[in-house]
Amino acid sequence: MTEKTARDLWDARAASRLTFMQTKKMARFNALYEEACWRFIEPLLPGGGGRILEAGCGTGRWVYRLVPLGHRVVLSDFSPEMIRIASEQIDEQGVSDGVEACHVIDICDMHTLADESFDMALALGTPVGLCDNPHKAVAELHRVIKQGGFVFCDMANQYRKALDLAKNDDWAAAAEVLDSGKSQSNGGFVSRSFTPKKIRELFTACGMEVLHVAAVCPFLSFPPNPEQVAVLENDESYAAARDIFHRFAETPEMIHVSARLLIAGRKI
Ligand SMILES: C[S@@+](CC[C@H](N)C(=O)[O-])C[C@H]1O[C@@H](n2cnc3c(N)ncnc32)[C@H](O)[C@@H]1O
Repeated sequence: MTEKTARDLWDARAASRLTFMQTKKMARFNALYEEACWRFIEPLLPGGGGRILEAGCGTGRWVYRLVPLGHRVVLSDFSPEMIRIASEQIDEQGVSDGVEACHVIDICDMHTLADESFDMALALGTPVGLCDNPHKAVAELHRVIKQGGFVFCDMANQYRKALDLAKNDDWAAAAEVLDSGKSQSNGGFVSRSFTPKKIRELFTACGMEVLHVAAVCPFLSFPPNPEQVAVLENDESYAAARDIFHRFAETPEMIHVSARLLIAGRKI
């Protein structure tokens, strides 16, 4: 039997991911996560509508915020099944007029997309940490945006990942993450995590000025565990978490403990 590739694994997860993301229990987590990223994305959006790449889009997320604001979006993912569902969803949700194309392409090799052809590229939900070569992926995101354009990525935080594994008594996996940055996810694929310093270096090595490195929902896990989901159902707890996550997003100590890190760069 041939071994399943990462693409096969994502293909197999596409339908259940959409259903899971749409469950009521994920609604508050998704709202917190999206707000945490959007407060950095929104101020850097091109005025008057621009061309924006949503890379590693899965079943589509940011397109639903971008198209209503007048931006033209290109969706891409290396999983044909994710792209099939994303295309269905944009039709169903009435935003397909603002979507130029849906491409099945690997983030490490986007040669079908022209150089300097986007105002902004979003690679959120960690496709850079999930691909074979994070440096190539960031170089590709940098290549396709115009000079002065912006790239946003989020990634798992290496030392926090090790802590979470150790809390689960998985010391071998914790050591592996600390040594190599790599870990095996529940879905069976390998993902990479990075320190805040390594994330900055990835961007600067590709010729980008780093504008922000920020903690995204710092006290939560990705995906959240059932206890965290239950806590977020309480209105007071939700509001308090939201307030803390906003106020401390760029505090260096908070960045170090956050499970997920957001980076924003500008092509210079
Ligand atoms: C956790 S999902 C995030 C999806 C979406 N961006 C979101 O935030 O909801 C990660 C996505 O990255 C995609 N992905 C993983 N490796 C990739 C690669 N090498 N090239 C392009 N997409 C990739 C997967 O197919 C999956 O859709």
